[in-house]
Amino acid sequence: MAALLRLLEDRGFTGAPRYLGQEGGADLLSFIPGTVPSRFQAWSDGQVRAAAVLLRAMHDATRGSGLAGRFEAVCHHDPGPNNVVFQDGVPAAFIDFAEAAPGDPLEDVAYLAWTWSISSTGTMPPARQAGQVRLIADAYGLASPQRQVLVDCVLERQARNVRFWAGFQARPATAPATAAQTAERIAWSRREHAHLFAHRRIFDEALARP
Ligand SMILES: Nc1ncnc2c1ncn2[C@@H]1O[C@H](COP(=O)(O)OP(=O)(O)OP(=O)(O)O)[C@@H](O)[C@H]1O
Ligand SMILES: [Mg+2]
Repeated sequence: MAALLRLLEDRGFTGAPRYLGQEGGADLLSFIPGTVPSRFQAWSDGQVRAAAVLLRAMHDATRGSGLAGRFEAVCHHDPGPNNVVFQDGVPAAFIDFAEAAPGDPLEDVAYLAWTWSISSTGTMPPARQAGQVRLIADAYGLASPQRQVLVDCVLERQARNVRFWAGFQARPATAPATAAQTAERIAWSRREHAHLFAHRRIFDEALARP
């Protein structure tokens, strides 16, 4: 994480904390002023667009680096709204690079699309959600072959989320949440997967539109 934050700083990416060194065995990061949303909710087109642009800039700053290795870029792997600092209502920086690792940028785009714009309980109807996902693909500059599998990639991530939390049901002592929270996260991920699966044609069509 220290090497990644240094790389981002060296390459002029300002949407992440700076690594300031160690103090008492703990990593010291710069504080980014603003607000971090505590729960998932509906976002405006402008907010979603800014998040996608920020993600693209982060990926671009890691391309071809030693940290990316044989992968295309270094991915954040958890770029949900709860890991973004908003300034004046605009997504300005990612925080929480605990899961960052070399990877396929499409994974991050898919997770961002899910956590910012796709919801079974949101106030936005599926067509509006699909419109935002298209907006994310455009703002990110996602290439056509990736657009065709973006929905599959979101479904895969949602299914993986179920499996991730279900793993803790077998080993409750290792779980980072209570049994009730774990069960709730499994149920939520399944619900969101069912929602997207049921409406996937609307999302696929929005992504395919010229
Ligand atoms: N560099 C930073 N600048 C400003 N605020 C920060 C920074 N890093 C963390 N925070 C604050 O601390 C909170 C928790 O940080 P972080 O997301 O890294 O930890 P976490 O344990 O993963 O929490 P969560 O489970 O909520 O994601 C953030 O929601 C944010 O309010
Ligand atoms: Mg976090």
